[in-house]
Amino acid sequence: MAEIKNVLLIGASGNIGSHILTGLLSSPFTVTVLTRPDSTSDFPEAVKVVRSDYTLEALTPLFKGQDAVVSAVGHVGFESQFTFIDAAVAAGVKRFIPSEFGSDTTNKGLQQLLAPANGATAKLEAVEYLKSKEKDGLSWTSVISGPFLDLCLNFGFFEIFPSTRKATLWNGGRQRFIVTSRPTIGIAVARILQQPELTKNIYVFIKSFTTSQQELISVAEKVSGEKYVIEEVNGEAKIKEAEASLTEGAGFAAAYPLIKAGFLVKSYGDYEAEGRELWNEKLGLPNEDLEESVAQALGI
Ligand SMILES: NC(=O)c1ccc[n+]([C@@H]2O[C@H](COP(=O)([O-])OP(=O)(O)OC[C@H]3O[C@@H](n4cnc5c(N)ncnc54)[C@H](OP(=O)(O)O)[C@@H]3O)[C@@H](O)[C@H]2O)c1
Repeated sequence: MAEIKNVLLIGASGNIGSHILTGLLSSPFTVTVLTRPDSTSDFPEAVKVVRSDYTLEALTPLFKGQDAVVSAVGHVGFESQFTFIDAAVAAGVKRFIPSEFGSDTTNKGLQQLLAPANGATAKLEAVEYLKSKEKDGLSWTSVISGPFLDLCLNFGFFEIFPSTRKATLWNGGRQRFIVTSRPTIGIAVARILQQPELTKNIYVFIKSFTTSQQELISVAEKVSGEKYVIEEVNGEAKIKEAEASLTEGAGFAAAYPLIKAGFLVKSYGDYEAEGRELWNEKLGLPNEDLEESVAQALGI
């Protein structure tokens, strides 16, 4: 497969898009950012920015000449990915990276756990649609990273709350799961595009660490010198609670409590132990230190 030179990134101002932009800008690509017409997002001066709504007519000419399109839109933009893919095919783009960057959506156990959540299949559907376009010359790569260590630690997604120094252990907090720091995901996306043949039409699994709630709390206590107040809860009861809280038509975000249960209660978050091959070495991803990463996430 020919070299990828021109890359267009959608959602470049977001939680993960901003790190993907850094990764792409540190690599020998010509990078264009596509932002919505009314977006107030800011980008570095050096980046070419184009504004467009998400219609096929508007996107197709903007995608012409791009070798790869990377989508990092948030869940509200997931539906638009089908239009991005259609525009990529129409414009002759070679590679599409969809907005995935999370749990192992290919895990059958996780799929079953998430089944009651309306909209939880959005990421899988995007990849299924991409598979249907392989015959048209569009290839794809989807990146599985587990939760973002830095973001999720600060937003309580691990049920650890640094601002109040409280934590809730689900089933004792011993379940191990994979986490990745956002800069590493940015590097991974850039390296994937630098090896287009090797990374064609596959899921790429990466990680910074395999950890657990217990380990994250003890590291947070060590680096901050502050003790956490721990509450223990039953994981299965949390799953029942999450199922009961599901609301009709709430979209992908409705699945968040169940996604959390997928790695805090079930084993689906440790996709290495579940038999998935990790790409860290092939992509030359950096080795990270958990104490340093936790300290950095906590602003210490
Ligand atoms: N593993 C994890 O822990 C984790 C955590 C968070 C997210 N994720 C995943 O990462 C991916 C990106 O999520 P994110 O949180 O980075 O996204 P985000 O910050 O919520 O949004 C990213 C960008 O999407 C664009 N966008 C498109 N339509 C929009 C709309 N209607 N409203 C607002 N913004 C819109 C915006 O770019 P412009 O303003 O430039 O148009 C925005 O900056 C998703 O697949 C998500 O599931 C994973």
